Amino acid sequence: MLQDKRIVLGVTGGIAAYKAAELVRELVRRGAAVRVVMTDHACEFVRPLTFETLSGNPVATELFHLTGDHKIDHIALADFAELVVIAPATANIIGKLAAGIADDLLTTVLLAATAPVLICPAMNAKMYGNPVVKENVARLSARGYAILEPACGELACRTEGQGRLPEVPEIAEEIESLLSPKNLRGEHILITAGPTQEPFDPVRYITNHSSGKMGYALAVMARRRGADVTLISGPTELPAPRGVHFVPVQTALAMRDSVLDHLKEATVVIKAAAVADYRPTVCRTTKIKKSEERMTVHLERNPDIIATVGKKKGSRIVVGFAMESDHLLENARAKLREKRMDFIVANDLTAPGAGFRTDTNIIRILDREGGDDTFPLMGKLDAAGIILDRVKKVRDDKRARDGH
Ligand code: CTP
Repeated sequence: MLQDKRIVLGVTGGIAAYKAAELVRELVRRGAAVRVVMTDHACEFVRPLTFETLSGNPVATELFHLTGDHKIDHIALADFAELVVIAPATANIIGKLAAGIADDLLTTVLLAATAPVLICPAMNAKMYGNPVVKENVARLSARGYAILEPACGELACRTEGQGRLPEVPEIAEEIESLLSPKNLRGEHILITAGPTQEPFDPVRYITNHSSGKMGYALAVMARRRGADVTLISGPTELPAPRGVHFVPVQTALAMRDSVLDHLKEATVVIKAAAVADYRPTVCRTTKIKKSEERMTVHLERNPDIIATVGKKKGSRIVVGFAMESDHLLENARAKLREKRMDFIVANDLTAPGAGFRTDTNIIRILDREGGDDTFPLMGKLDAAGIILDRVKKVRDDKRARDGH
């Protein structure tokens, strides 16, 4: 998702500099062009050659060095950057930047850059807790610099506390977010994801193969685009996405209650969950022991959550999913109409690369006006982007109709 994005990574002299090497690798893997600037102290921890090899670009370390076109490096680098990231950022670079000091290559790049800057402080917890560091971080934040707070945990100096450089995927996610258009700002998007589990005793339940990946991808992308996101999720193996209000639930009834609790603030509802249509009539409090050759479990219908939301829809945009193994079009159209959705995302369960547990999807979007768009096989994050583009379009159309 960072395809061709131009990122300047500033590495300063802390032990976490080794993690910056992994970060370069991840950014390059996501398609970014990365130029690394190292301070003298950073070069004591990791050699420039490591960054040069991983980024595939020369590493800049010196202020008075001319590039081929005779432009001074700090201006060339500042112009190149669509985003500048400082990871790890020591107390020293934070202090210098807060004071406007430009006495080496990195500080001069920072003063010359007009692109957004992400600062990832990492240092001993006592240093991070020092009022002067706190004050400098607050000053930078007030000036519009993005700060990724350090994580808590074990530090290199064998102490515990807040000072660890966050893990690479977390930094990469923050970078993705800073480089995404904020075209869903003002929306509060309620997303459901994953399967539900319907227990019939303390150790057994009925469920389905949903992995939750599509719903989580929607939550990540909606947050990147500036929406407030509530993710109500059945049990999955996925970590809760950063910056999202995460509500774990188990059963369809719990999911329904949670959706209704959060409906008031929602401006958009996206139901990506694979809700179990039936639950056991009785859930025993003790484990069922085996006895007869055959056993019968009685099931009763679960409430249809999206249909309930449809009835209370108001001005909300409601999006549903339909996973079908046959008669995709007729079934999806019926669900769209009956559940009062604005559009429905249909998946053919039988198509290779689509459906449960895969990292890819083939989506087909059907809308109330009869629109029918099929998209090629793509990653679930890209598919989420297309679904959210459609949400934005529905919002713009509604606004235009209402004369706003
Ligand atoms: N859905 C829901 N509550 C349910 C069942 C489904 O909110 N109890 C939502 C799903 O999250 C999805 C849409 O309804 O957005 C369609 O779900 P799907 O399981 O494909 O369809 P059903 O309406 O349950 O119909 P069927 O299982 O008979 O295909």
